[in-house]
Amino acid sequence: MNFDIKDPSLAPEGKKRIEWAERNMPVLRKIREDFSKRKPLKGVKIGACLHVTTETANLVITLKEGGAEVFLTASNPLSTQDDVAACLVKDYGIPVFAIKGEDEKTYYDHIRAVLSRKPQITMDDGADLISTYHREYKNEFEVIGGTEETTTGVIRLRSMAEKGVLLYPVIAVNDAATKHLFDNRYGTGQSTIDGILRATNVLLSGMVVVVSGYGWCGRGVAMRARGMGARVIITEVDPVKALEAVMDGYEVMPMEKACEIGDLFITVTGNRDVIRKEHIEKMKDGAILANSGHFDVEIDVKGLEEMAKEKRKIRKFVDEYKLPDGRKIYLLAEGRLVNLSAAEGHPACVMDMSFSNQALAVEYILREGKNLEKKVYILPPEIDERIARLKLESMGIEIDKLTPEQLEYLSSWELGT
Ligand code: ADE
Repeated sequence: MNFDIKDPSLAPEGKKRIEWAERNMPVLRKIREDFSKRKPLKGVKIGACLHVTTETANLVITLKEGGAEVFLTASNPLSTQDDVAACLVKDYGIPVFAIKGEDEKTYYDHIRAVLSRKPQITMDDGADLISTYHREYKNEFEVIGGTEETTTGVIRLRSMAEKGVLLYPVIAVNDAATKHLFDNRYGTGQSTIDGILRATNVLLSGMVVVVSGYGWCGRGVAMRARGMGARVIITEVDPVKALEAVMDGYEVMPMEKACEIGDLFITVTGNRDVIRKEHIEKMKDGAILANSGHFDVEIDVKGLEEMAKEKRKIRKFVDEYKLPDGRKIYLLAEGRLVNLSAAEGHPACVMDMSFSNQALAVEYILREGKNLEKKVYILPPEIDERIARLKLESMGIEIDKLTPEQLEYLSSWELGT
């Protein structure tokens, strides 16, 4: 199997949309120009397990321009854009194994299709590729290093490193400032609301929106929901984050209370069982449940299925569950990532920085791999600074420079005045 996609005839549509995204990815474009001249990834096999979107297409095209051979599979069964997959295969000769809506077996068969190409570098969004390598392929071939895009994946990998089972170094791209401060906050913030609105067409203004988790993603979602006129409640387990939410002007309370007053619930915690049967039991008729965390474990969908006496699809991406007392609860995108299932994920402008970090992380691994241990690393701050400067430049924004006197002042301890 050289590729497995829905329909190659979708390629022309995908091509136009990939070009549209490229317009808003000026930093990645610069890196592509540079890679194209230097070919720093010449002959390197990269296995990528990412959401198959127009933005990812621009990343893998950049890696190929840099000389790499790239194999792409999806990092979520519902997030694939089939026209993008078609275009990558037909117009760029990049093997893609991804079909929107694929079942769990196909999802893992596609991951195996990439691993059977024996990639030297793995690129993950959620750590499914690297964990399948550790489970099933570790005796077959060696990997130089990997990258990880998302908070959830980094948590999984840090736990592997702590337990001493991680077999090669991984760069936590998520932890770069030019990634999480922008992608997680403004990207998740906007695309989550986008997914919910495309799926439901509800008016957020005046709604009680409960956001679970006040990490960078939760802050983005809360900020955008408030900006559209919603009354926002935050639920948290971390006292510092909860305090920040209070001082940012949100109501903070446990889910046990929030479940009674929310109209729309959005989980972005990265943990499981955030909304459970005992919460659903107390929800208002018409409550809408959406998840924007990486895995579909935050809402107890199985519990909801057990509680309901009837279920029907009321709109694309909206399932209606009728409870025995007549109340109806609406679940979006089967509890999977709503922003990538019902919408198109984060806009290209923000993925520009995330994927520039990914491209430079691959180059970094190839350069430094020999000196790295089997641990999770962050990228050097110079890369963050370079990406931020290029992004500002592309936006036509200039900033100040330190004067020699200021530089001296900052580096001296004797000067007190
Ligand atoms: N993660 C969130 N949004 C994304 C996008 N547009 N492309 C790839 N990965 C994403």
